Amino acid sequence: MSGKVLRYSDKVVIVTGGSKGIGRGIVKVFVENGAKVVFCARGGECAGQALETELNKAGPGSCKFVLCDVSKEEDIKRLIAVTVELHSQIDCLVNNAGWHPPHKSTDDTTADEFRDLLNLNLISYFLASKYALPYLRQRQGNIINLSSLVGSIGQKDAAPYVATKGAIIAMTKAMAVDESRYHVRVNCISPGNVMTPLWEELAGQSADALEAIKAGENAQLIGRMGTEAESGLAALFLAADATFCTGIDLLLSGGAELNYGYKNQVP
Ligand SMILES: NC(=O)c1ccc[n+]([C@@H]2O[C@H](COP(=O)([O-])OP(=O)(O)OC[C@H]3O[C@@H](n4cnc5c(N)ncnc54)[C@H](OP(=O)(O)O)[C@@H]3O)[C@@H](O)[C@H]2O)c1
Repeated sequence: MSGKVLRYSDKVVIVTGGSKGIGRGIVKVFVENGAKVVFCARGGECAGQALETELNKAGPGSCKFVLCDVSKEEDIKRLIAVTVELHSQIDCLVNNAGWHPPHKSTDDTTADEFRDLLNLNLISYFLASKYALPYLRQRQGNIINLSSLVGSIGQKDAAPYVATKGAIIAMTKAMAVDESRYHVRVNCISPGNVMTPLWEELAGQSADALEAIKAGENAQLIGRMGTEAESGLAALFLAADATFCTGIDLLLSGGAELNYGYKNQVP
């Protein structure tokens, strides 16, 4: 026995998009703290399965990987059903799966691109919450939504992404109001720059990937990017410790929103 205090022992947690990046960090921290986690991703069955095997070996909690595309309502329903079949309860839902498309001006963005992103980044959070809430209410559980700092401060050439992330913060507050009568807390996390496969992919689309990563690090007062593990600890804090917090937006940003910077753009 290690004597480590388990902060979420035997609680049942769903994490969408848990095979990589921030979601992976969240799955790992919850399993390390004794939770039973069900996590999903679309493809990448290998990544999901490998993580499941690795974490079940390490314990002390457990996890199960489920193939699920959160842009499909039937897949979301199945994710919830599989979790309930396995564990008979849900204590925490972490809505994390989302995408940042390549940067594009408004002129170059089509309505269908915007609609598809709304479906993936926002409606999926709404639907997973809708289908998990009957169970969360029985357990006085909680929802954690991954938004983004840019949902509050904006970002260049990313209007649809910024709009979906801003809407997540607003929806978090609306659901916190509605669900308080059932003692379900609803909070969100807004990361600044956290080093993940998504961040690497976006850096890879710029003229100089290394330069983009350096700039990403220097955007934080703390002078580096956040980590997957720090993302997991922030989620665990909201789920396990922050029992008097609902409707909050926890900035996981290394202070990126503070101070003046060189912001004027020559067109
Ligand atoms: N990284 C950052 O700096 C940052 C900053 C602010 C906000 N965020 C937000 O944090 C969340 C996670 O970002 P990340 O950087 O960790 O992304 P990531 O590295 O791309 O990982 C995304 C995870 O979600 C899964 N996923 C993607 N689309 C999915 C779908 N339709 N259905 C189910 N699973 C899906 C991916 O697996 P598959 O590809 O196999 O499906 C993967 O496991 C996103 O909501 C993002 O907007 C990230």
